[in-house]
Amino acid sequence: MRNACREIRQSGKRLGFVPTMGALHAGHLSLVQAARSQCAAVAASVFVNPTQFGPKEDLSKYPRDLDRDRGLLEKENVDLLFAPAAEEMYPAGAVTWVTVEGLSERLEGKSRPGHFRGVATIVSKLFNIVEPDRAYFGQKDAQQAVIIRKMVRDLDLGVEVVVCPTVRESDGLALSSRNVYLNPEERKQALVLYRALCRVQALADRGERDAMKLREAALQVFAEEKPVRLDYFEIVNKDSLEPVKDIVRGALVVTAAFVGKTRLIDNLVL
Ligand code: PAF
Repeated sequence: MRNACREIRQSGKRLGFVPTMGALHAGHLSLVQAARSQCAAVAASVFVNPTQFGPKEDLSKYPRDLDRDRGLLEKENVDLLFAPAAEEMYPAGAVTWVTVEGLSERLEGKSRPGHFRGVATIVSKLFNIVEPDRAYFGQKDAQQAVIIRKMVRDLDLGVEVVVCPTVRESDGLALSSRNVYLNPEERKQALVLYRALCRVQALADRGERDAMKLREAALQVFAEEKPVRLDYFEIVNKDSLEPVKDIVRGALVVTAAFVGKTRLIDNLVL
């Protein structure tokens, strides 16, 4: 993979890179399309990264279908697909980690300790192998995007990070590889995340600036969908991820909730 990527760059082509964990959907393909439109060559990776899953999380049942993913990437004219085995990425005895301190412990990191250490480590390893000019991530994983940007800056990785808009179903549900876990009833309940975000946006559009009031309105929306267990709903600064008191300078609204056993996340930028 390293040699193939180097050859592309040495031929003077700009190399775009889309790292994924497979189970590709239209959200991933929008990243590939953005890369395709901006770069002469595009590489993608499919790797279900074990180190970003907690011991009680869904690593073993995470959807995997490499043949389907390969077909979808081929249709999008991806030049290179990297789908390594876990032992190849993490040889026995590997003890080196990348940690983006502070940003990694809040929100998702609070509920999923160690998650962002796994993400930052695998993304930097993939960047070291591919050495892309640009790498593409989805806004759906807003905190991940903030952390990767910070890691790239702090470690001078020389990759331009491009964050693409969240792709949604027609009723607003954010596309996620985990949506396949939802049964039809849960699929309906899952819309509460988007409904709560839209409620905040509507109030903000009408002039409400107080983050506490906006949050309370969102919690009310969740309270009306009893079976869904809210993990967090926060209004934060879009770079520092620190809670904000008002949204005068814009803000990132982030939420996570359990719908049945499935944990979903969503966000919007006010
Ligand atoms: O967003 C994802 O799919 C993963 O976290 C990533 C960036 C591919 C790292 O495993």
